[in-house]
Amino acid sequence: MAKILGIGIATLDIINHVSDYPAEDSEIRALKQTICRGGNVTNTLTVLSQLDHQCYWGGTLAAEPDADIIVKELNHYSIDTRYVKKHSGGKVPTSYILLNQSNGSRSIVHHRDLAEFSFQDFKIIPLHEFDWVHFEGRNIEQTCDMLKWLKSTHAAIPCSVEFEKHRPGVESLYPYADTLIFSKAYCQASPAADPELFLAGMNKSYPQKTILLSWGEKGAYAVSSNSDIIFSPAIEQPNIKDTLGAGDSFNAAVIDALLANNSLSKTLHSANKLASYKISVRGFNISQYVR
Ligand code: FRU
Repeated sequence: MAKILGIGIATLDIINHVSDYPAEDSEIRALKQTICRGGNVTNTLTVLSQLDHQCYWGGTLAAEPDADIIVKELNHYSIDTRYVKKHSGGKVPTSYILLNQSNGSRSIVHHRDLAEFSFQDFKIIPLHEFDWVHFEGRNIEQTCDMLKWLKSTHAAIPCSVEFEKHRPGVESLYPYADTLIFSKAYCQASPAADPELFLAGMNKSYPQKTILLSWGEKGAYAVSSNSDIIFSPAIEQPNIKDTLGAGDSFNAAVIDALLANNSLSKTLHSANKLASYKISVRGFNISQYVR
């Protein structure tokens, strides 16, 4: 069991389950509605906690009733919230999600106006206690300061950054992460949109780093320290129910496997396996998952 700190967001996810994706300017009725906690890093921590790691979340909440739903669920999964910063005004970030039951696809409209977790909030965390720190590639300036601080004060603690979306200046985080986890959308929006070209370029600039790239329903790539690009095929899932947070679950499995000193190809396989399992269940209860 490792002690893991995750920095990023928690959201209120309002999920409307629909039989098909609606046409524009139409009206449909949801089959059902689920209201629960979401957000990339807290999704990842929820999975890591069920893989028996001791998880702590660093992020922000608003002092309003919807925050209680988030905290209750984090408590349920034994995720420690002592480093959370609660802001007196505003709302928790909210995602309005259509979950298409015919194919498990999720479409998200996200709204947030809550202040992000700051470097000052991060600085008070006793980092020496942790075995791994994971960041979302967002809130760039503050996250960059956090990474610089982590690397200058505790260089030996491994850290990972998730690069899900291109955000202005997000590349400034590359030099400080030990493990970089890229999404397919991120790679496709890059000048080298091809996975192998993208990884070869990243490896050339950062040969010491562990770099992974998930490629959705096809599988995932990684580049090893001898510059070989590895591909691991997805594990087919005939029973797709919910793809919301599949990438966040992939990230959790990567961290879990690297903490166990697994090889890069075994790490990719584990991450594909867990992502494949996740999409066969609704939500993030993976208690029936066998590693
Ligand atoms: C899934 C997710 C949702 C959340 C949204 C935030 O990856 O974290 O739970 O609403 O993305 O961008």
